[in-house]
Amino acid sequence: MSILRGAPSGVFELHRSSSFREPQLSHHKYASEEDDGAATTSDHPQGESDSEEEVDESVREDMNKLEDTFPGISDRFRLVNRIGEGTFSTVYKAEDLLYDHYQNEWNVFGQAQPDAWADPPSKRRRVEGASTERKKARYVALKKIYVTSSPLRIQNELELLHDLRGCRSVCPLITAFRYQDQVVAVLPYFHHSDFRVQYRTFMVADMRHYLQSLLTALHSVHEHDILHRDIKPTNFLYNPDLKEGVLVDFGLAERQGSEYTSPCLCTHQTYVRRSRILSSYYSKNPPSTGLSAGYPKNDSRPSRRANRAGTRGFRAPEVLFKCTSQTTKIDMWSVGVILLTLLGRRFPFFNSADDIDAMIEMSSIFGTRRMKTAAALHGQIFETNIPTIGEKGYSWEKLVKWSSCVEDLTESEQQATRLLSGLMELDPSKRLSAADALQHEFFTNPIHHDVEWGGHPEESGDSVEEDAGDDEADEVAML
Ligand SMILES: Nc1ncnc2c1ncn2[C@@H]1O[C@H](COP(=O)(O)OP(=O)(O)O)[C@@H](O)[C@H]1O
Ligand SMILES: [Mg+2]
Repeated sequence: MSILRGAPSGVFELHRSSSFREPQLSHHKYASEEDDGAATTSDHPQGESDSEEEVDESVREDMNKLEDTFPGISDRFRLVNRIGEGTFSTVYKAEDLLYDHYQNEWNVFGQAQPDAWADPPSKRRRVEGASTERKKARYVALKKIYVTSSPLRIQNELELLHDLRGCRSVCPLITAFRYQDQVVAVLPYFHHSDFRVQYRTFMVADMRHYLQSLLTALHSVHEHDILHRDIKPTNFLYNPDLKEGVLVDFGLAERQGSEYTSPCLCTHQTYVRRSRILSSYYSKNPPSTGLSAGYPKNDSRPSRRANRAGTRGFRAPEVLFKCTSQTTKIDMWSVGVILLTLLGRRFPFFNSADDIDAMIEMSSIFGTRRMKTAAALHGQIFETNIPTIGEKGYSWEKLVKWSSCVEDLTESEQQATRLLSGLMELDPSKRLSAADALQHEFFTNPIHHDVEWGGHPEESGDSVEEDAGDDEADEVAML
């Protein structure tokens, strides 16, 4: 087994760990001295104990397989359960058996909540006269990245996580192990609630805490010029008791401007854009009916390629319009989709099968006029002959009212809706950044007039089934 040490620059420094058989006290858990990566205490859900954690036979087999095929892993970790299965990885909860061999001094939530990751007070009763309590179990999340992921992509995820160490509300990477083609990333286990159940009960004040934590994480990520690319509820683990969450899953993340492509028209000044559009074939030969007759059968123009990695329903309009100069603002759109889900009480809010469907959903809200302008920003033409799509679209307030089936919004909901319109702005240059959003009146001057929503978590039982697996990230794809 190998242990990953230090910040990997260029090629990972993977080498045989002498500390594996004989763990030594180091400044940071599992890490070399130069490495100031984080170490963990972990959260043990209230009332939960290992014996109570029911494990499916198939999950047990899967965990046994990992233990059998990854030499040495069971000396370090005791696998407890499988907690996540996605497109790119399987995540297990595991007890960290060597916790005491390392110093675990980091603190992800700053000074305010030094025990954010710590176990809640033990409910175990002390045996009369016993001098010591049973050693506290410490938990980690083991993310087994599928061998089908390219080494470059795995390196990218670990590297970015390493760069983001110490950022508030970003899940720290403790270490990573490789054995042959298998890679396992070790993260502190963070106890969180299931968004699909939780969101229905959220009052506006809860939405505020949720968003503040998510925006804090994104503010740091964006300050590092990193795009997460896959902001959605399953990648933001939120704990309503702590009113804090952590951002996970940097599997699709990238550094801003890292892809070499010619810059999109949206990066040019308005006059350049206008003259380019006016000199285009489409402008010079406008369709007589106002709509093109169709599309050319033998189009000799090279197809446009742009990164569209992300999840259906959370992709920003510029991603759909194949913008080649995508920025951190794509994450801000996704935050907007989450807020829309919360205010509109619908998950998933957008339910498109593909990018064209997604564009239809968007145009039903924004109307054709604004969609055309948004498309032109990236040198694209937007046309539709769907009769139900109007020219003007609807206001966010109207939409939130329809979606949540209320006649009026409370003042605090109106305030949240004003934030929503700043996030779900079609033009990325006008969309709020994470820093702007944190300065929005919704956070700086909150209106506390809130009315409890009638929804109940149990009512969501059926949709949990329906929605399961519906938000898996798509493969990094170039169109
Ligand atoms: N540190 C963690 N603590 C608790 N659960 C986690 C942690 N990291 C991931 N998970 C769980 O595993 C799921 C998948 O993890 P993620 O990193 O998003 O992998 P994938 O790339 O497969 O989506 C998450 O949605 C979450 O439920
Ligand atoms: Mg994920």
